[in-house]
Amino acid sequence: MKILLKNIEEPDYTGSIQDYRRKGGYTAVSKAIKEMTPEEIVEEVKKSGIRGRGGAGFPTGVKWGFIPKNTDKPIYLICNADEGEPGTFKDRIIIERDPHLLLEGIIITSYAIKSHQAYLYIRGEFVYGANRLNSAIREAAEAGYIGKDILGSGYNLDVQIHRGAGGYICGEETALLESLEGKRGWPRIKPPFPAAEGAFRCPTIVNNVETLANIPFIINNGGESYAEIGVKNSTGTKLFCLSGHINKPGIYEFPLGISLRSLIYEHGGGIKNNNKLKGVIPGGSSMPVLASDEIDVSMDFDSLANIGSALGSAGVIVMDETVDMVDVSLNVAKFYAHESCGQCTPCREGMPWMRDIISRIKDGKGKKEDIDTLLDITYNVEGKTICPFGEAGAWPIRAFVNKFREDFEKHIN
Ligand SMILES: Cc1cc2nc3c(=O)[nH]c(=O)nc-3n(C[C@H](O)[C@H](O)[C@H](O)COP(=O)(O)O)c2cc1C
Repeated sequence: MKILLKNIEEPDYTGSIQDYRRKGGYTAVSKAIKEMTPEEIVEEVKKSGIRGRGGAGFPTGVKWGFIPKNTDKPIYLICNADEGEPGTFKDRIIIERDPHLLLEGIIITSYAIKSHQAYLYIRGEFVYGANRLNSAIREAAEAGYIGKDILGSGYNLDVQIHRGAGGYICGEETALLESLEGKRGWPRIKPPFPAAEGAFRCPTIVNNVETLANIPFIINNGGESYAEIGVKNSTGTKLFCLSGHINKPGIYEFPLGISLRSLIYEHGGGIKNNNKLKGVIPGGSSMPVLASDEIDVSMDFDSLANIGSALGSAGVIVMDETVDMVDVSLNVAKFYAHESCGQCTPCREGMPWMRDIISRIKDGKGKKEDIDTLLDITYNVEGKTICPFGEAGAWPIRAFVNKFREDFEKHIN
């Protein structure tokens, strides 16, 4: 069952508007705008059960429902195309290979939340993607899907691209809003949540690229058919990014609920050089690593949370027996120390502190008490910052230490 890669996997598919329409594209937008009220669309998306694909897994229809009724302020839609999470490269493929699928999702969502201005906040490094989207927006405007009086309905929508400048934190929705407003990307304290007070202090919905790219299918086929795909509480298909020591790295689309073992051994072709598996990060670098005996887990929001990890962005990073987890945690700690925005003291001080301790351990200068100090720092960062970046840096380090303590002890001893 393919929703997101259906077109992309066709050999001759170019992603042009002609190709997209040939494959049935833009029928959902027409159905939504001509035959449905915004409220009916929100209901359909609620029925689908889809949860956000950007990492937090919040139910999309419920979020849309938080837009205040009868507001006299403008309402904004922001498509989060920052895709900064290490190990994640799924939004990029939609942007580059099927940009109209994303645009169709953006147009329908904007109509559903009564927005006339959508922003596509795209990671600065995605130059090709930004160009691709620019051309697609032009094509869609020429065809009458974007602009004034869309399909003769009287509904107007402008879609603009805003390029980021390389800060991982700007993927966090409130830092993104600050950045979009031309300010330093510092997360805001919530509440107020963006749906009540977002861009320019007006009601705003922020959704991930993959989330929005599912919307045309939901409108064409109905929320109930979408809800039949996947498992309870984790409906629909998901893009999984397989990387690391795996024979067939790449992007795979499967219904949520596929087992991690089958992703790695059946679809990913197993571990390189027939080596043994040591550990897997299931949801991008900020999610706790799983040990090799934890891979019989269903890849869905609840099952991964039940074993102390999370689906996150579904960036599956596979590591074989040759990997030293001290190296990996140093790499991860360096990243979070570098990317901390510096606003909250526990994060600003804690991330470089963890990096320095791990670096010392790696150089053979570690002390026995360093391991407990590392764990202690993770507990003093988690939950003590304005945004979840604190958890994103603390959780993986704690999991590396707890599950692969012997690697750390080897260096220290
Ligand atoms: C540090 C940090 C970085 C994030 N980076 C991204 C990102 O690159 N792309 C994204 O879609 N969401 C990212 N998120 C999640 C967003 O804050 C937000 O939950 C998401 O865009 C909402 O969309 P969704 O409901 O469709 O998932 C990040 C969150 C944090 C805490």
